[in-house]
Amino acid sequence: MNNSLKILFDEHEIISEAVQLAQDAKYLIGKDNEQFKLVIRELLVFFRIYADEYHHHKEEKILFPEMMKKNELLADGVIKEMFDNHAYFRELLQVVALDMEQQNFTGASSKIDEYSEALLDHIAVENEELFQSADSLFTDSELELLHYRFVDLDEDMGGTQKKDLAEKIRQLKINSIV
Ligand SMILES: [Fe+2]
Ligand SMILES: [Fe+2]
Repeated sequence: MNNSLKILFDEHEIISEAVQLAQDAKYLIGKDNEQFKLVIRELLVFFRIYADEYHHHKEEKILFPEMMKKNELLADGVIKEMFDNHAYFRELLQVVALDMEQQNFTGASSKIDEYSEALLDHIAVENEELFQSADSLFTDSELELLHYRFVDLDEDMGGTQKKDLAEKIRQLKINSIV
């Protein structure tokens, strides 16, 4: 596979690490609620900025539209499904934030589980299906161009913030052995 989509695969890996942490956080409820609140607060920031603004926006603004130009049928098929999933993820995060505000930790945790499972399924479809089709739809130079547009989007968003967010997830994993 052409290396140009690596940036998206790499982001999926960090997002999956955060999902793992999100799934484990529930074991803190009742044992250390303050730590639970802290972990969820950090995860919400990560999922909103890293997973959504950096990652989903690369797909929505760059990859998916370019794929639809190559094959119109994708617009009503798997790509529509991916767009719908992203919208659903945003809604779920809002519900989690609301539950946390109301100290409804078990409610927040069950929404986080729903989010986590749906996000892992979504990532699997993209890794195994969608990115493979992208790889065959585009020429090498088109893929290279996409890569530069991904890098530009990161830079427009603030390049160091992305690294910091990924680092924070690693730190959080070490500091919250549950
Ligand atoms: Fe996606
Ligand atoms: Fe993705």
